Amino acid sequence: MATRTHVEIDRARITELTQREAAALDARTQGSREFYARARKSLVGGVASSYQSRDPWPIYLSHGKGANVWDIDGNEYLDFHNGFGSMVQGHAHDVISKAVTDRIGLGTHFAAPTEDAIVVGEELARRWGLPKWRYVNSGSEATMDAIRIARGTTGRDTIVKIFGSYHGHHDYVMVSIGVDYAMIGDRFDLQSLSYGLGIPQAVVEMTVAVPFNDAEAMERRIEKLFEEGRPPACVIMEPAMMNLGVVLPEPGYLEAVREITRKHGVMLIFDEVKTGLCIAAGGAVERYGVVPDLVTLAKALGGGLPSGAIGGTTEAFEVVESGGVVQVGTYNGNPLSMAAARANLLEVLTPAAYAHLDSLNEHLLMGCQQVIEKYSFPGYSVGIGSKGCVTFSPEKITDYTSFKAHQDVELCELAWLYNMNRGVFMTPGREEEWTLSITHTHEDCNRFIAAFEELADDLTA
Ligand SMILES: Cc1ncc(COP(=O)(O)O)c(C=O)c1O
Repeated sequence: MATRTHVEIDRARITELTQREAAALDARTQGSREFYARARKSLVGGVASSYQSRDPWPIYLSHGKGANVWDIDGNEYLDFHNGFGSMVQGHAHDVISKAVTDRIGLGTHFAAPTEDAIVVGEELARRWGLPKWRYVNSGSEATMDAIRIARGTTGRDTIVKIFGSYHGHHDYVMVSIGVDYAMIGDRFDLQSLSYGLGIPQAVVEMTVAVPFNDAEAMERRIEKLFEEGRPPACVIMEPAMMNLGVVLPEPGYLEAVREITRKHGVMLIFDEVKTGLCIAAGGAVERYGVVPDLVTLAKALGGGLPSGAIGGTTEAFEVVESGGVVQVGTYNGNPLSMAAARANLLEVLTPAAYAHLDSLNEHLLMGCQQVIEKYSFPGYSVGIGSKGCVTFSPEKITDYTSFKAHQDVELCELAWLYNMNRGVFMTPGREEEWTLSITHTHEDCNRFIAAFEELADDLTA
């Protein structure tokens, strides 16, 4: 979206409003404060995953139904977080609840295949146009196994990823994410930097990052890796980045990536853990019409139960079919997850559901953009399918470097507090976006727009 002249936001005003809103949120989440004091004694940092941490305490939830969630203080919110995009079906959907309840009485785990696993595979093959599938239990497992398949197929160790992209918490991909602007490096020679401690340096060096939306930089780096005698097995990437807010691929970029990878015999993995099932029935592959060798899914697949999948061409899976790469897992294809996924795919995420999501998102994106224009606010709205965000940047963000250079972190934090105090449960973190559910309404989106307008008004008054 085009940028325009905008007002300068008074930094002291941001600080003042942040203090006011943080105090208001603290006051209405005293139950969470007490839970936190208790949880810290047994759970590290009081949470199950570091991505659930928050200062001064996390907001603990009790339940959800449809588009709503409730915290343990009884505060009701419209959920735009939706479990980092897993709950595009809405909470406690009757059809999925019934499928899970029916399955529970029949046994929940055998480590043997069931019919539901076949049906889910058939439906995923139809949606993605990729014939072969395997299951895992999370997005991390999906990307880990997909990379191993690429390494097994090509006999190469190095992999290429997009700088700033998150693909889960295993060593191969915990590289070149969330680093300071000064550390990024030259766009044709970006740095391989460990994301946190505990990642072996040898593994870090095998993962090479390139900028998003820059096919030339990708090709140059791949050619350089060939010259250095460490050609890459694969490029793993989100076709539309969902871990820098939302950054869409520029026209022609994905086609160019497909051509470059094919030309150099490098496998292409589309990580659709966030985009898959959320931006179209067949994810980014359907939306953009570019077909990779492998695709990874998780989050929205299981309707809230842990699940994940890897899809691919017959050639890509040959190395698994032949027993060369050992793709395994006790809980892979778990009957409960598969029952939920089957109901989710066949009865809930229907063509009508995707039409509704598109209509909602268009309304929400347009409403936010109108606020931006009315107040000459430094930002723009961007999204696709059920996903979107207001990008707090006067400049268009196309990759990690522009994200780091321009995104206003303090405004992101303030916007989150405004939402929470106005009944909008929004994904925390400057890298995140909203995910709408099929149970959201246009009125629900209006509440988000109203909270944003209040923020813009307070900041520009
Ligand atoms: C694009 C992408 N890939 C992989 C993952 C890892 O998924 P999980 O947290 O289920 O392991 C995530 C998680 O946010 C993700 O956004």
